[in-house]
Amino acid sequence: MNREKIVVIDFGGQYNQLVARRVRECNVYCEIYSYRTNLEQIKTMNPKGIILTGGPDSCYAPGAASCGRELFELGIPVLGLCYGAQLMMHVLGGRVGPAPVREYGKIEVTVDKSAKLFGDVSEKTICWMSHNDYIEEMASGFRAVARTKDCPVAAAQCEEKNLYAIQFHPEVLHTQEGTKMIRNFLYEVCHCEGNWKMDAFVENSISAIREKVGSGKVLCALSGGVDSSVAAVMLSKAVGEQLTCVFVDHGLLRKNEGDEVEAVFGPDGPYKLNFIRVNAQERFYEKLKGAREPEQKRKIIGEEFIRVFEEEAKKIGAVDFLVQGTIYPDVVESGLGGESAVIKSHHNVGGLPDYVDFKEIIEPLRDLFKDEVRRAGLELGIPEKLVYRQPFPGPGLGIRIIGEVTAEKVVMVQEADAIYREEIAKAGLDKGIGQYFAALTNMRSVGVMGDERTYDYAVALRAVNTVDFMTAEVAEIPWDVLGKVASRIVNEVSGVSRVLYDVTQKPPGTIEFE
Ligand code: XMP
Repeated sequence: MNREKIVVIDFGGQYNQLVARRVRECNVYCEIYSYRTNLEQIKTMNPKGIILTGGPDSCYAPGAASCGRELFELGIPVLGLCYGAQLMMHVLGGRVGPAPVREYGKIEVTVDKSAKLFGDVSEKTICWMSHNDYIEEMASGFRAVARTKDCPVAAAQCEEKNLYAIQFHPEVLHTQEGTKMIRNFLYEVCHCEGNWKMDAFVENSISAIREKVGSGKVLCALSGGVDSSVAAVMLSKAVGEQLTCVFVDHGLLRKNEGDEVEAVFGPDGPYKLNFIRVNAQERFYEKLKGAREPEQKRKIIGEEFIRVFEEEAKKIGAVDFLVQGTIYPDVVESGLGGESAVIKSHHNVGGLPDYVDFKEIIEPLRDLFKDEVRRAGLELGIPEKLVYRQPFPGPGLGIRIIGEVTAEKVVMVQEADAIYREEIAKAGLDKGIGQYFAALTNMRSVGVMGDERTYDYAVALRAVNTVDFMTAEVAEIPWDVLGKVASRIVNEVSGVSRVLYDVTQKPPGTIEFE
């Protein structure tokens, strides 16, 4: 099938992945590339349209992220968003400068409904603005098709050349009719067919894998998380018992999680795959002894994971293919796609075993965003409970125990976390919160239990809502639920005498503590 494609060019804006996700939600496939990408490369992809993202620079400043005039002369429709809109004007001879009134937040925009982007949009519509510069003068051939009280060119178009510029952010949900605008660009301007559909993707992937693998042997590292589970099930549908899954229990999983994974993928579960569980808890605790620094701990866990996996692979012998559950944000964030900086080394990216005897890697989810992985999981018939599992980091509880990890601390955080999850579910809040968990701080404090003085650890509870895990807001859990969780933890978890609630947004905090 010829998969039509939109190319998103990333100028370093914080919403770059959101742009791509909105496009895909409109059933059009798209990929993100850095603005440094060679124009020839973009041409050979033969995209139906190009979208320029926002970015932190001023387009007229020396050294600002830029693009050549030729990009607008390919005959391919271009939509510039925020910085992308300003850059389009700047490069094509318009004038951009500091706005007399900066706009930030939800702003009412008046649109020209005769413009292709706004045909089905209300004349007055709320949009998300975030800009210091503005378009002072449009490039020749353009006309303004939207304005706000303080911004005379909130959108502009040159219909003849299929060039469109929007000063606000249609990709952000605060822009109430943003998806309609993106859809209009895709369907009214680029004339896309909309052939990006999950059922077709799953079906095509299975037959492509089957053809590629033939009668070969396949090995997969299964963590029980959503990505590796979906990848494993997809492989098992394609090649059945030719697939062997190795599940390394590093002793840093949530309470009972190892057994839950085994129940689904093990010999008594619904999938016909060869399943090997390695109980490596002690090895990991031994290696982590004395390690206190977050990146050091991540490295130790990542490396040990690979060593254990390699040993198992050696026992299995030569295989033809190794499966990785890489997903699209991993590809973008590891610097292959966009412009974003790496904040933490994710242990499931780039960490490839050195000594596994395999010929080729299969990454069946490499093109998918997380929500798409979940949809693929449902298409494959994986139970909802597993598909909608909250994200859990590869290094597991190792990065939710601040400071040195010990077997005792693992039990404390497992028990506290299990109580927290149980109470959240009982209160019916579990589906409404993006991610929530307990972490063990490295702080001990004085308390009193019965008539005894205690000097025990403090547990921190975190709960956040997030669209893309790049930014997150603190979820407001009712006091009575928090109170119940706190008193249960202090009463039931030995070694813990205090419970704190984390009210830090991301940024500046990250979601995990390390
Ligand atoms: P942070 O802490 O960076 O987390 O705000 C963002 C999201 O990523 C998850 N996370 C990880 N996932 N391997 C993973 O697979 C990792 O090393 C890792 N570190 C953080 C985190 O749970 C959150 O959902």
